[in-house]
Amino acid sequence: MQRVSRRGLLKNGALAGIGALALPAAASDRPSARRAIAVRERLLLDPGWRFHLGHAADPARDFGFGAQQDTFAKAGANTGAAAQPGFDDSDWAAVDLPHDWAVTLPFVASVDPPPAPNDDPRAAHGFKPLGRDYPQTSIGWYRRAFNVPASDAGRRLSLEFDGVFRDCLVMVNGYIAGRNDSGYAPFRVDITDFATYGGRNQLAVRVDATLGEGWFYEGAGIYRHVWLVKTDPLHIPQWGVQVRSRVENSAATLEVDAEVANEGDAAQRCHLEFAVVDSDGKVVLQAGTAPLDVKARETANAAQTLHLTAPLLWSLETPNLYRLVTRVMTDRGMTDESTTAFGIRAIQFDPEKGFFLNGAPLKLKGTCNHQDHAGVGIALPDRLHHLRIATLKEMGANAYRAAHNPPAPELLEACDRLGMLVIDETRRMSADDGSLGELARLIRRDRNHPSIIAWSIGNEEPQQGTERGARVAGDMARLVRTLDPTRPITAAVDDPKAWGVGITPVLDVLGCNYRTDQISAFHVSHPGTAVYGSETGSTVSTRGIYVRDPASGYSVAYDTEFPWWASTAEAWWKIVAPAPYIAGGFVWTGFDYRGEPTPFNRWPNVASQFGIFDSCGVPKDNYYYYKAQWRDEPLLHLLPHWNWQGREGQPINVWCHTNLDRVELFVNGASAGLRDVPRYGHVEWNVPYAAGTIEARGFKGDTLVLTERRETTGAPARIVLTPDRGALAADGEDVASVRVEIADAQGRTVPTAALPVAFAVAGPGRIIGVGNGDPRSHEPDKAMQRTTFNGLCLALLQSTREAGTIRLQARAPGVAPATLIVPAHAASIRPFAPI
Ligand code: GAL
Repeated sequence: MQRVSRRGLLKNGALAGIGALALPAAASDRPSARRAIAVRERLLLDPGWRFHLGHAADPARDFGFGAQQDTFAKAGANTGAAAQPGFDDSDWAAVDLPHDWAVTLPFVASVDPPPAPNDDPRAAHGFKPLGRDYPQTSIGWYRRAFNVPASDAGRRLSLEFDGVFRDCLVMVNGYIAGRNDSGYAPFRVDITDFATYGGRNQLAVRVDATLGEGWFYEGAGIYRHVWLVKTDPLHIPQWGVQVRSRVENSAATLEVDAEVANEGDAAQRCHLEFAVVDSDGKVVLQAGTAPLDVKARETANAAQTLHLTAPLLWSLETPNLYRLVTRVMTDRGMTDESTTAFGIRAIQFDPEKGFFLNGAPLKLKGTCNHQDHAGVGIALPDRLHHLRIATLKEMGANAYRAAHNPPAPELLEACDRLGMLVIDETRRMSADDGSLGELARLIRRDRNHPSIIAWSIGNEEPQQGTERGARVAGDMARLVRTLDPTRPITAAVDDPKAWGVGITPVLDVLGCNYRTDQISAFHVSHPGTAVYGSETGSTVSTRGIYVRDPASGYSVAYDTEFPWWASTAEAWWKIVAPAPYIAGGFVWTGFDYRGEPTPFNRWPNVASQFGIFDSCGVPKDNYYYYKAQWRDEPLLHLLPHWNWQGREGQPINVWCHTNLDRVELFVNGASAGLRDVPRYGHVEWNVPYAAGTIEARGFKGDTLVLTERRETTGAPARIVLTPDRGALAADGEDVASVRVEIADAQGRTVPTAALPVAFAVAGPGRIIGVGNGDPRSHEPDKAMQRTTFNGLCLALLQSTREAGTIRLQARAPGVAPATLIVPAHAASIRPFAPI
């Protein structure tokens, strides 16, 4: 049943344009140049760029940029040769976006010999040559040409950048059209005045990654999508539609706020038509506004309340989405149409009972993550965002903290679609115009995502316990509440001395970084404030390593190692799981990331070891602890591997992560003991090594439910290739994540194998990166080979825009090669303007 709000009726009782609404599946994607009025076009500009490093200190090597100290003297001039339309960039590298040039740079130790542990200034950013010491690799120039037809004259043209790291100047036909310094906030550049109509336009972007914003690998370049957007002067501005939903008595009230901008010189009268479309593409609700007068060069707002009976709620199990189609109607016809995805759900944080989704209590089983991935740095194709979220969800995680910056839009879309709750975080906790502007863009961009449950305005800020901090947080909170009154404000606090002072009274929900054992004290002293663990854990572990040897630069994969401020998985979860007043926790981290090479913090370690997964998305052993705790299905995981040649007779620590009641271990057929599994814990044995088999038998009560084995393998014999998907869309964007394993003659992965694997691709595909999860590896990620680390490595295989059969071949010395066949099916290609 559906009905249209009374307030959706026009004064004369008729519904505006209802009969005329025949909504296509993806109205906003549709090029509409043949209409009487050209409504919105949004063209993906990712393919077809040229790239070259510039120079931060030498103008001659920076294409003359800044040579005469007159860069900003005259518009359309003085921006250097590379910004000019006639410049010859034919010897520049051909690149497609998203692009991260930092991932292509070598690893460089800052000083030789390296300084003492915890003392290396380059460790945090992962030893890439970016910064003041590396002017020759810290500037990147990008160029791309595009045509603008003469018929576009009179429309508004803009470029939307989803994310550039960092500080960039956007130049169109030699004119500086825009500037943005944030490495994470999206920005928009209006190019209407600078465009050439009826001809070729030259876009140049100078990106300066000298300065950083974080203490982790941040990459460099245009690492998210770029869009060319064309609209009528009377249009809906970027992020100009907001849908807020409330659910009461199985009906939803939708508060719609829409902005209409008039960038023309004459006042315009229009009205808006709204249509709510369900996930099957069916229009379930339509309404129109009263006439709206928009003065020349002004923006007007239209508010509308809609009622939807029996809405399908968005939940983790059924992440149901609706779309609101908004049309701007004038007596000239429709001038704009935009689509806003939204979901209907209720969220609540309760100081006593924790978090609620749609009225039911839900423990937040979360992970914090940075945005880089093996092979590609921070330039993730959309598919990889989706895969990372799906991988976390499969473990049983239901929440994601975007640490410590606005994530890519596609990551949030994946969370919406797959059912993953999100804490969305701004990068900088400050109240200067720049920081507030970034925060405003974050909220405006993201406020319709049903997955987002809180806005985080800071993390472990030095000002967290100060009066000044309170003023800053107060300004930020005021801005957030103006733009989105529906979600709570949080921040991650790591100093218990800041509880109740400084920024914390401003927050609706307190995030506690680590110190999980002190949260109960917070609850007693601040009984009215909801609380959760904003960073929990975190075990440092290296995938596939089980022998403690600090000199090696590897941790062990048992749940035993953690830095002084942190804890093991078991230690934090057994506090949070039974405490109803703790809304949940976010493990630091889901995936390993570049930089912060904890626990060793020095060369040659270049990546962190906090992840539940390695940087390729391969589970470490703690994955099974979380999966056993976070999912209901019976699980039994046995570690370590059983290839300990040379250690015969020596004791080996054998563990099981499980959610069963009891486990019995057998070593080569002989029982090593039956153990009861402690709640939230694991079971372990110490047994002498003898080649053969260890087997764990897991019982629920007295019933044998699961059996797990580890066998001593034979020598490496062949390569096994396993993609995460069997076919690709031939759209030039789709990616398969291919696991490359070294197996023995019986097909068992050899857990210690370290073999260089060389790749070749035939057909319409390409490898966009490789990785192996080794936190000390200095092998290039942009390469056609990789050494397996503890038995495996990864290749990311991307389609081109041609359909056909892709053959990925892998070879390594002394083992049989493997070929993977992946069909690339013809697919629609997102519109762009090639030249
Ligand atoms: C926290 C910080 C994170 C990360 C982590 C490493 O203090 O918020 O960004 O640095 O420590 O343990």
